Order: sequence, then structure tokens, then C-alpha cells
Amino acid sequence: MRVFLFLYCTFAAQTQLLKMNKRIAPSILAADFGNLQRDVEMVNHSEADWFHIDIMDGVFVPNISFGMPVLKAIATHAKKTIDVHLMIVDPDRYVKTFADLGADVLTVHYEACTHLHRTIQAIKANGMKAGVALNPHTPITVLEDIIQDLDLVCIMSVNPGFGGQSFIENTYKKVTQLKTLIEKTSAPTLIEIDGGVTNKNGKALVDAGADVLVAGSFVFKSENPTETIADLKSICN
Ligand code: DX5
Ligand code: ZN
Repeated sequence: MRVFLFLYCTFAAQTQLLKMNKRIAPSILAADFGNLQRDVEMVNHSEADWFHIDIMDGVFVPNISFGMPVLKAIATHAKKTIDVHLMIVDPDRYVKTFADLGADVLTVHYEACTHLHRTIQAIKANGMKAGVALNPHTPITVLEDIIQDLDLVCIMSVNPGFGGQSFIENTYKKVTQLKTLIEKTSAPTLIEIDGGVTNKNGKALVDAGADVLVAGSFVFKSENPTETIADLKSICN
């Protein structure tokens, strides 16, 4: 009986530890650019885990966000992991640049990389964690032969390019499929969800296997962003 109790407690503690690792990554795209330092400090002092930084080139996606000087300014003040999401064509050109700017995680789009394996190796060789983002129409199966090399997969739950869009429900199915692939291959990969994340879908996403929740509008357009981050964090852990 005692042995059983001990095993049960160990299992429960480990489960709790795993759950507590769920990360919240506010997307700076939805911040007030006129008060960028204030919003970066808000994230620093909140329960958020990462900064999510969206770089858009107006070619891969129909929108341009901001570029290197703005990222440099953010990185000067940011005290948490900087998670850069590149929505650009031919991202290989800028891997070293983003490493020098302070990116900790660099995510490229599957749809933008002809030689994805080479790109992933380049990201790692530059000292960053390597991520791949999948558009809503791209199936999880395309990652079968590269999952072992990925530190993170970002499942887009909206079509990339804009903040404030509605969450695509098919995402849950993709999270489950990706979780199964990760477990089957014992890959070290984190699952990140990006787009339309709120307190309505956060828990279900984590229950399906998500590790990192990106939230832009839901955090920055709320009355009290610090509290909104804390709420999201408590829902997910
Ligand atoms: C969309 C971006 C997202 C976006 C999320 O292309 O990759 O990171 O900022 O914003 P919300 O949470 O408002 O959908
Ligand atoms: Zn993003």
C-alpha cells in the first residue's frame, strides 16, 4: 500500500511539474507601438514566459509588421525569452542577423523553406532554438522526417499576417496529431499555438497537448493586460 501511495505521489508530482511548464507568450504585434517600452516592461513584470515577435515582409504574408531596429529596441528591454516568428520568404538570409539581435527561438514557415533541414541546422548553428510554423492548411504529416530536429512547432490557428482574427477550430485536431507524432518519436519538440488564443480555448489547447500559447489581442486589448496574462496562465497550469 505504501509503495503504491509513493508511486502515485511521484506520478502526480511529475504530472503537475509538466503542466506547470505551460508557457504564455504575449504577441508584441498587438502592443501599443507608441508606448512600446511600457508594454515590454509590463510583460517583464507579468507572469508571461516569452515575448512573441512577429516579423512580416509583405510578400509571404499580405502585411508588413516591423523589422530589425524595432526588434533591437525590444530586445534592449526584454528580460524573458525572445521568440521570433518569421513570416518572410527565404528566411535563411537573416538567420545570423536575428541571432545577433537577441532571438532565443527562431521560427520559420514550412511553406517558405525549400531546404528546411538546412535552415533548421543554420538556426541551431547560430545558437538559437529552431522552430517551424505550419499554416492552417498544411498537414502535420509533412514534419514526420524532421520532427526530431525541431525544438518547437508553431501551429497557426489563424492565417498568418494579422492579429485579432478568429481561432480556426481544426487546430485542436492538429495539436492532437502533433502530440502523437512527438510521443511516438520521443522528439524534444514544444507545441506552440498562434492566433486567436483566449481564455475560452486556452485550456482545451493545453489539454490537447499545447506547451506555448501565443496571445496578442486578447492580452493587449484587454483592460488589464497583466491580469489577463495571469488568468491565462492559471487556466493553463
Ligand atoms: C499572426 C501572428 C500572431 C498574432 C496573434 O500572423 O503570427 O502572432 O500576433 O495575434 P492574436 O492573438 O491577436 O490572434
Ligand atoms: Zn506569430
